Amino acid sequence: MSVVDDVKARLDILDVVSGYVSLQKAGRNFKALCPFHQEKTPSFVVFPDTQTWRCFGACGEGGDVFSFVMKAEGWDFGEALRVLAERAGVELKPLTPAQQQQASENERLQGLLEETARFFHEQLLTAPAAQGARDYVAGRGLRPETVTAFQLGYAPDDWRQALQHLQMLGYTQDEVVEAGVAIRNEQGNVYDRFRHRLVIPIRDGRGRTAGFGARALEKEAVPKYLNSPQGPLFDKGRLLYGLDVARRAIRETETAVIVEGYMDVLQAHQAGFANVVAQMGTALTEDQLRQLNRYAHRLILALDPDAAGINATMRGLNVARETLDGERVVTFDPRGMMRYTGLLELDIRVVSLPEGNDPDDLIRRDPAAWEALLARAIPVADYVIQRGTAHLTAQSSPQEREQAARALLPILTATESDIQRSGNVQALARRVRIDERVLIQWSQRRQAARTRALPSLREQRRLAERPAPATAPASPPGQSALREGFCLRLLLEQPERLYAANRLLRELQSDNALLADVLAPLKAEDFTRSDYQAVFQVLVRALDQHEAEPIEYFYAHLSPELRAVVDELRVTPLEEFEQALPRALATELRSIMRDQARMNALPEPDTRAWLQEVLALRQRLLERQRNELYFIQQDAQALSGDLTGAGYHEALQANNRAMQVIARALHEVNGLRGP
Ligand code: UTP
Ligand code: MN
Repeated sequence: MSVVDDVKARLDILDVVSGYVSLQKAGRNFKALCPFHQEKTPSFVVFPDTQTWRCFGACGEGGDVFSFVMKAEGWDFGEALRVLAERAGVELKPLTPAQQQQASENERLQGLLEETARFFHEQLLTAPAAQGARDYVAGRGLRPETVTAFQLGYAPDDWRQALQHLQMLGYTQDEVVEAGVAIRNEQGNVYDRFRHRLVIPIRDGRGRTAGFGARALEKEAVPKYLNSPQGPLFDKGRLLYGLDVARRAIRETETAVIVEGYMDVLQAHQAGFANVVAQMGTALTEDQLRQLNRYAHRLILALDPDAAGINATMRGLNVARETLDGERVVTFDPRGMMRYTGLLELDIRVVSLPEGNDPDDLIRRDPAAWEALLARAIPVADYVIQRGTAHLTAQSSPQEREQAARALLPILTATESDIQRSGNVQALARRVRIDERVLIQWSQRRQAARTRALPSLREQRRLAERPAPATAPASPPGQSALREGFCLRLLLEQPERLYAANRLLRELQSDNALLADVLAPLKAEDFTRSDYQAVFQVLVRALDQHEAEPIEYFYAHLSPELRAVVDELRVTPLEEFEQALPRALATELRSIMRDQARMNALPEPDTRAWLQEVLALRQRLLERQRNELYFIQQDAQALSGDLTGAGYHEALQANNRAMQVIARALHEVNGLRGP
């Protein structure tokens, strides 16, 4: 039994959840007001039998005890495991020596950064030489409580003060350099990185200091901001400035507002707008959006009207803003934002700031105007169309309109959601006055050039007009956990299998809008175990990024806890999985593995065995969902009214349809010739 299973077996989800909300009995189950969104009637349900929970209201999310505390506390899987294991009295496997060393090194650097922040802060508060910095702070309208809350500091106008202070505390020169607080030049001299600047400590979501942004006090000084160097602790693609103090407000308002600058965050919080965070001078990454998504599904980007040469970017021109320290950055990535709206089911909206104003100015002048501005945020797709066609007039030629449309199409169709995609194309068609069907053709031609379809399946399905066979009974829980593990193992061995799986699922949707959701690409939810979900998410991210080889990225981004899960999966003997698999599948699998060993080559990613497992995986998810839907029906009186309306029937209908489609597809896949 894995540690995760062990922890789950010893904890009762009811005990854990009741530490957060007060549960009331509703039939066999328990209900409560959802802790993850504001509501007046309970739509949050805990199922003791399956040890799971689900919100049937606005969040629509659910999972096990791990995902519950992860969401409630904003923890990652490793943290959840540590805390729950302790609570359950389960001892975790000690880290490997290499992991231990890494962990203790990081901890030491962390401590060094905290000490540095404290030192600079102390300087700002008391040093006579910091008078200029204190005047600067006051001049920008920042009050003492803001200085304290954000631990603002002053880096003295000196080459060694910070270094010497840290050495006095027992840190070595190497460590101070490693932490980015000092620099070693080519002659080997070591000196303070931040000098005569206002220091803004950048903390991660849990309030741990990760590095610094240091603002010049004089107007012309270059660069305006000097930041800590990029490294494992200071990662601009992961940090969001202000998140540690904004988390609660983001959850309460169900909205995160993202601004561009540190100063904007300080001013917003000071004025009571506590749900504001800043990106770090670079475009928002999927990782950052995922972090925010833990607290709220609605994001509002407050963009500088010309932050990144936005108009040019939309028109396909490769224009990036050049920061003063010479980095070229694009702070708004329209295609990425479009993609994530679908992928992460985020509601991303945009407000354009008035020319020459940043939130800092705006809020200082008129806080009400800031609120009014946010209320006018528009969906990111509308924003893209507006900006990307701003140069068109009634006199624009057909060529100009075509050019604009062709540049915007790939952005607007980048979302995973079919409904959004067709809505976006419609809106674009209206704006550029080109027939929607023409636009669809253009975009399909692009698509066709990039994806390989699975023709055999579709043909077979057309032939097969037999009625759907009854669905197979759900496999017992222990077995289905094994099969989940098996799917993940196959994905780990050959991540490209994910594409084959998603092609199949997309194909099964066959333009049926009802099925778009229930037959969506493989998702974390397909796995019931939170550790598998977390591993799967890292894998998906690894395939999505272009910085490194997927497999390298994957291992670099696994926490030690998840690494242990992966290692365990990879050493599990195949026989153990086999006993949970249908006989035919096991046989095919064994032959694949044998061939693989003999030829030292991996099988095609879309073998029958794999596709079958994918279908079975989704089938089990649909079964779980159906059971929950039945529960709502039975306990309708016990729950709030809005769970039983049209949404319920639609969900049940979609579930039924999808079950039939999958059952038929399983039949067909079985009928296909082997690999
Ligand atoms: P801004 O120039 O808008 O900064 O850059 P700001 O926070 O509004 O600062 P003030 O009001 O001029 O003092 C936005 C963000 O871009 C990054 C920082 O994260 C900054 O907050 N940036 C900007 C740098 O990292 N380096 C720079 O030289 C400039
Ligand atoms: Mn500013």
